[in-house]
Amino acid sequence: MNKIAQIFDSLDYGPAPEAADQANAWLNSHDRVFGHFIDGAWTAPGKTFASTNPASSEKLAEVTDGTTEDVDTAVRAARAAFPGWSALSGYERGKFLYAIARMIQKHSRLLAVLETMDNGKPIRESRDADIPLVARHFYHHAGWATHLSSQFPGMVPYGVCGQIIPWNFPLLMLAWKIAPALAAGNTVVLKPAEFTSLTALLFAEICERVGLPKGVVNIVTGEGETGAAIVNHPDVDKIAFTGSTEVGKIIRAATAGSGKGLSLELGGKSPYIVFEDADLDSAVEGLVEAIWFNQGQVCCAGSRLLVQESIEERFIAKVKTRMAKLRVGDPLDKSVDIGALVAPVQVERIRDLMQRGIAEGAEVYEPDGQVPATGCFLKPALVTNVSPANTLVAEEIFGPVLVAMSFRTPEEAVALANNTRYGLAATVWSENINLALDIAPKLKAGVVWINGTNNFDAAVGFGGYKESGFGREGGREGMASYLKPSWEKDLQPAPVRPHGEPVEPRGRANPLDAGHLDQTAKMYIGGKQARPDSAYNRPVVSPDGTSVGEVGEGNRKDIRNAVEAARAASGWGTTAAHTRAQILYYLAENLDYRRTEFAARIKAQAGEDGDREVALSVERLFAFAGWADKYDGAVHNPPLRAVAAAMIEPLGVIGIVAPPSQPLLGSIALIAPALAMGNTVVVVPSDRSPLSMTDFYQVLETSDVPSGVVNIVTGDSVTLAKTLAEHDGVDGMWFVGPADASAMVEKASVGNLKQTWTSRGLDYDLADPRFGGDYFLGKATQVKNVWIPYGA
Ligand code: NAI
Ligand code: MG
Repeated sequence: MNKIAQIFDSLDYGPAPEAADQANAWLNSHDRVFGHFIDGAWTAPGKTFASTNPASSEKLAEVTDGTTEDVDTAVRAARAAFPGWSALSGYERGKFLYAIARMIQKHSRLLAVLETMDNGKPIRESRDADIPLVARHFYHHAGWATHLSSQFPGMVPYGVCGQIIPWNFPLLMLAWKIAPALAAGNTVVLKPAEFTSLTALLFAEICERVGLPKGVVNIVTGEGETGAAIVNHPDVDKIAFTGSTEVGKIIRAATAGSGKGLSLELGGKSPYIVFEDADLDSAVEGLVEAIWFNQGQVCCAGSRLLVQESIEERFIAKVKTRMAKLRVGDPLDKSVDIGALVAPVQVERIRDLMQRGIAEGAEVYEPDGQVPATGCFLKPALVTNVSPANTLVAEEIFGPVLVAMSFRTPEEAVALANNTRYGLAATVWSENINLALDIAPKLKAGVVWINGTNNFDAAVGFGGYKESGFGREGGREGMASYLKPSWEKDLQPAPVRPHGEPVEPRGRANPLDAGHLDQTAKMYIGGKQARPDSAYNRPVVSPDGTSVGEVGEGNRKDIRNAVEAARAASGWGTTAAHTRAQILYYLAENLDYRRTEFAARIKAQAGEDGDREVALSVERLFAFAGWADKYDGAVHNPPLRAVAAAMIEPLGVIGIVAPPSQPLLGSIALIAPALAMGNTVVVVPSDRSPLSMTDFYQVLETSDVPSGVVNIVTGDSVTLAKTLAEHDGVDGMWFVGPADASAMVEKASVGNLKQTWTSRGLDYDLADPRFGGDYFLGKATQVKNVWIPYGA
């Protein structure tokens, strides 16, 4: 047989390697050793470590391990560049972003090859996915820069942003961080991951070539300690991190109380749900994309296959057939599907996890065939026979390992899908659009792909729910996370008021000497008046020391009951916005009806003008009734045959600790926006003047508020704030109080990475009309982007 006939016979691939000579030439032009890029110039290399090609184990270059001093120099350069950069017009900044996008496009092949060499990902992916998305991100944000002042009036940049990125999409993660930061007028210090620094250094050179002002972008290479030095630097105003949930939690704790902005894009264990009426062949192709794209080293990888029992056998057989056709090998080969994992340590990690899973009963299928003998290669793997508790089901593997389970009903699919501490992404396959659109809102994930997977676009936000982090990248919401209201920068310290201590009424030391018989206000939990678990009460006294009543001394148990009630009332979140509005209007009406009584109570507890505070509280309820059906989502039109519906969803349960002042408004101003957006709340009212809110439950009872939507626990603010912040059933936490207690709340929230807003001892005057606007609505909600393809 001649050669061509043989090829027709075997249909084998020949090698189709992409040339590496240009990337090597670029590395050589730097003598294969790099310092940092700080203040528009290259520093002399310091102590260095190797950046290697994981497919060949060949050393590509030496990069500098950034010290605390290096980080400090970079932060100072970024600080010095900030006034000039932020003062440029949006158009001027936009032109720089546009120039960067053009340069990336012009040098796309060089960037793609270098990325593949340093990371091990197939050239097909770096060439067709990573780098085009990088360029798209800079183009998109050139536009945001141009229109910033009209689109985000009153908003200003944070200042210096510290950005720390992982190794799985090195240049793409850099783009997701740097493009919006620069568009907003921030300057940045970015640290690439230690395994993959090279494209960030090539990017630095691009910044140089486009004439970006010195110090606007600083790249400091290094390992975890260098990252920690950025996180802990006192002159950094915002931290943006993508990486493991473990490090994300360290950063959350480290930044607590610092006032630094924070966005975290962390791990995932995303479900890939296939219903019996799905187009199975398409779903198989989607699955290949979901779990074997980038060797499965994808935060949003569809790593948990949930397949309907009726088609399980057929679908799994198709998956196995397809797996056998995946080609594992040299990432620079244009016809390779699965390249090298990033580093030997990751291969070991995956092998360890697999062994644990197998010991727990898992069965593993791997197709026949060989992978290259040297380099970080693994075969694609399919894991079956697992219970939800199996390590391979629960842990993020970050490798080419798919775990399969089955379900019978849509309800069961949703329950299994949500049975994870993560909430980054989810995929739904069904030809029944009604079913798919019914399931999407029920999935606790920041991105839902219907009949598709791993779609990304700069115009569509990306980010997680639950322990997958908070904040979004891309879209309007991503842009917003690099801006803050200008007035926040001018806040003064709140007048210091004693807090937490029950104030003893003058001249009374004996707790039995209650001023009022039968005037102990109850707590309000699950729609019922509740006595405190502790069976202790605390006195309420007027500023002149007169006893005006008693309230229960709430404890951990009361908080637990209240959180349970709030969780059980989650139906509030899917109640029609119109209905929520009607109920808030009704609350306003009923409070107004009793304004004289409420005003007198405020006057008695706080000595302040009660009439004004009641009027403001009524107005605030009215304002948020009006907001309920207006603060809503968007439909994006990404460059694919799909629309992405950006849906605004509530956080879930919000713990609210009200300020000591403004006994009524202090709570109402925070409850109203939370309720309007569909959250349920556990509120700890002012601990010195709690009676206005214990009176308020009578208003709740007469206003059709469903049981459990508002729960009121009285007691010491700081003690109860700690319990709420530590509770994993609470999704968000708002705290008004001193700086040290605010820091405590942020730190205690690390367990389930709840989103926090704290006043940090600053004078947030909740009577200010700005708090009737959308300030709290963004904090009460998270955006879920649902991708819906079209075309027959
Ligand atoms: P990692 O979270 O340690 O690394 C991400 C980045 O954080 C790197 O730039 C690293 O230098 C930096 N870093 C590490 N410790 C730090 C600290 N204390 N303070 C500040 N920055 C710090 O992830 P790693 O160790 O490379 O991978 C381990 C596992 O984490 C993976 O197997 C995977 O499961 C998960 N991971 C998830 C990612 C995602 O996008 N969801 C990305 C990378 C890793
Ligand atoms: Mg490398």
